[in-house]
Amino acid sequence: MPVPVPQLGSFDYVPETKENLDWADLVTVDLGLYNTPEGKKQLAQTLINAIRNEGFFYVKNFNISQERVNRQFSIGKQFYDLPLEEKEKYIPEGLDQGKFNGYVPAGRRTGLRDKTEIYNIPKFNGYFPHEHPELIQQNLPEIEEFARALHTEVLDPLFVLLAIALELPEDYFTKIHQYSEKSEDHLRYMKYTKYSLEENKTLDNWGYGHTDLGSFTLLFRQPVAALQIRSHVNNEWKWVKPQDATLTVNACDALQLLTAGYVKSTIHRVTVPPLDQQHVDRLGLLYFSRPHNDVPLATIKESPVLQREGFVKNDFETSGNSVPTMEGLFFEVVEYLPSPTGYHGDTKYRNAVILPGFAERPYV
Ligand SMILES: [Fe+2]
Repeated sequence: MPVPVPQLGSFDYVPETKENLDWADLVTVDLGLYNTPEGKKQLAQTLINAIRNEGFFYVKNFNISQERVNRQFSIGKQFYDLPLEEKEKYIPEGLDQGKFNGYVPAGRRTGLRDKTEIYNIPKFNGYFPHEHPELIQQNLPEIEEFARALHTEVLDPLFVLLAIALELPEDYFTKIHQYSEKSEDHLRYMKYTKYSLEENKTLDNWGYGHTDLGSFTLLFRQPVAALQIRSHVNNEWKWVKPQDATLTVNACDALQLLTAGYVKSTIHRVTVPPLDQQHVDRLGLLYFSRPHNDVPLATIKESPVLQREGFVKNDFETSGNSVPTMEGLFFEVVEYLPSPTGYHGDTKYRNAVILPGFAERPYV
């Protein structure tokens, strides 16, 4: 029997900028090629080159229809349209200590009041409470299905390709990213409310350059240009162009630590959008993947590639300090953040040593 689908209304994407920005030249991992051994081998090479050089890449043909993606944007939009008092009921207790599932209001960063709101939804695997406003609650089965599909259709294939590239057993990374296990993965609806033209003139960027903490971050097509990435090759900032029916993906700190820097966590920031898009709000749909909480972030010793290439000790191991688990690192890092959106503008925290061997790293 078909499941009744709640009405969501249509979701209208903002038109793309007409400005000719300095776009990053990123490769695309076409998962349509994933089902043959040759295709996999080719994609593994594409992936590893991308995350060692350009840093970000696109993924297409991932078996999740545009209609399902549109419905998630629509849920996100309707959530942000709720009255602030309603949203504020879902601010997590212990937000400053890293309890970040639920609603994170704007204005938690210093400087000109930030206008970034976040709603994080954790895994549906029994380890996390799910208390949501009615709007989210009534769409919860669909949200769960969507989050699980991101694991099976996108993350699992990417982890297999990464394992192939490192000459590891194909299930090496999928085994430490099981949906059923406890990890701080989360689906996020994120809203950057627009600033006035005058305010924008006083801002260099909307968010500081930073790396993400986990394994891969998945970012659904974002028509408002503002994401910039810093090249690993020449440190230049380039804009990320929205591409139809793709995800934009970046490798994050946990993968960098597990591979002793062979895979690089990409530095990125949200800057002021081009003039023809400064009059609109920017709604984001993202998924953050993390290794299981109990995975130690030590260099993988079984990879012939890492051994051959000399990537054998990560920053913790080189410094002689103890290696934290994913959970240990996460809760140390959030201690330093007034919001889990990223690194902030308070200069006293810049370059702070969060754990011995792991410093705060803003790149403005
Ligand atoms: Fe980020």
